[in-house]
Amino acid sequence: MICTFFFFQIFPLFHALGANGILIEYEDMFPYEGPLQLLRARHAYSPSEIKEILHQAKLHELEIIPLVQTFGHMEFVLKHEQFSHLREVELFPNALNPHKEESLALVDTMIKQVMELHRGIRWFHIGCDEVYYLGEGEMSKQWLQQEQNNMVKLCLTQMKAVASHVLIHHPNVKPIVWDDMLRGISEEYLTESGIAQLVEPMIWDYIEDMDVHGKVLLMDKYRKCGFPKLWVASAFKGATGVNQSLTIIGHHLKNNIQWLKVADSGPAEMLQGIVLTGWQRYDHFSVLCELLPVGIPSLAVCLQALKHGGYTDNVKKIVEKYLGMSNLEINNFMSESSGTFPGSDVFSLVTQVSFHLRHSVDELLERNRYVTGWFSSYHRKRKMIHPVMIQYIQPDAISLLTRWNAVIQELQAALERIFYPDAVEEWLEENTYPTIQKLQQLLQDLDAAIAAQS
Ligand SMILES: *[C@@H]1O[C@H](CO)[C@@H](O)[C@H](O)[C@H]1NC(C)=O
Repeated sequence: MICTFFFFQIFPLFHALGANGILIEYEDMFPYEGPLQLLRARHAYSPSEIKEILHQAKLHELEIIPLVQTFGHMEFVLKHEQFSHLREVELFPNALNPHKEESLALVDTMIKQVMELHRGIRWFHIGCDEVYYLGEGEMSKQWLQQEQNNMVKLCLTQMKAVASHVLIHHPNVKPIVWDDMLRGISEEYLTESGIAQLVEPMIWDYIEDMDVHGKVLLMDKYRKCGFPKLWVASAFKGATGVNQSLTIIGHHLKNNIQWLKVADSGPAEMLQGIVLTGWQRYDHFSVLCELLPVGIPSLAVCLQALKHGGYTDNVKKIVEKYLGMSNLEINNFMSESSGTFPGSDVFSLVTQVSFHLRHSVDELLERNRYVTGWFSSYHRKRKMIHPVMIQYIQPDAISLLTRWNAVIQELQAALERIFYPDAVEEWLEENTYPTIQKLQQLLQDLDAAIAAQS
């Protein structure tokens, strides 16, 4: 949903801030073709755009790891009628039915197509997190009734099948999996399953006060089970609320600092790297949360904190220099300047809208004494108004609407420079229309009441 052009602007900053790779989950933005053509979103990248993204990443020493979901979170595939027969549970499009050969053939084809455009990669992330409702499909229920079968086996069999496929066709590419489906499995079972020889787990946790000791123990457990290497994943945005529009930098900084402590006390030789995730939606069907430009100050803070081993005043100054900001607040959203980094116009306009739009309109509609006292819903419904009140209400309402329309137009133009039209429309409709409509409705009702008087 982000135009390739914005990536080219932002890659130099990522590199300067200390990033040396990018994990990309394309989802429906990948140019799937042939039998998978229908998976493409309307504004999916073309193969040449993908090549250009990879080329630009390479120029800035950013190693790409593609991520393709192959088990859970396959909403963008299984929502299509043509693939709905491959759902684990008939009604829900999130998880793949692991019993059907066609399911494996489907993910194999997806991986093959993504691999073809990513020659020379060292890692391939096959997802496998949050496989909700696994075991609840009819075929799984029958399979689970056999004595030697259980949920853990059901899960690991699919993961191993996909990982083996990657390794057979691409012996130099190591599959990565999210670790949440593995965490609870006993040491003995994990060891015996042979999964440790096939994948590198990526332990993820995005909460502020993450339990460091628990994570060290988990890393140690994976070591004992035979995993030679693993990854960890923090978050810099998109993990504090499904409809969050502004990034709470302090939250993400603390999360990353906790991970830093884990890295300091866990088995060091195992750790391949830390991925700072920046989610734009909780899943394929949910609303947009923080947009990438809005999360960039947080990314800068988190990356630099990891690089320097903490977030001191000195590190703060370095971050401010990179972002072109005179003062970056991490615990409230009211930084004085909006910065000069790519997308900083979006950052500052989204901040304005998220902070003041609803508040200023509510102030007029719910706390202005002329509106609440002389133009209530009772009055509005009956088109009644004391003539003098028109002068007290109408000019304020018109000036508020004019002011906000100008801001929203500016924001729309800024968004259109970075995002494809569907994302721009979605964000504005979710975050500005309801409030603007309330204001417009007030003005319409006022016009109707004025008209009724003459
Ligand atoms: C997000 O949803 C909550 C209710 O769950 C609501 O109170 C809040 O205003 C919403 N935030 C935004 C930014 O729309």
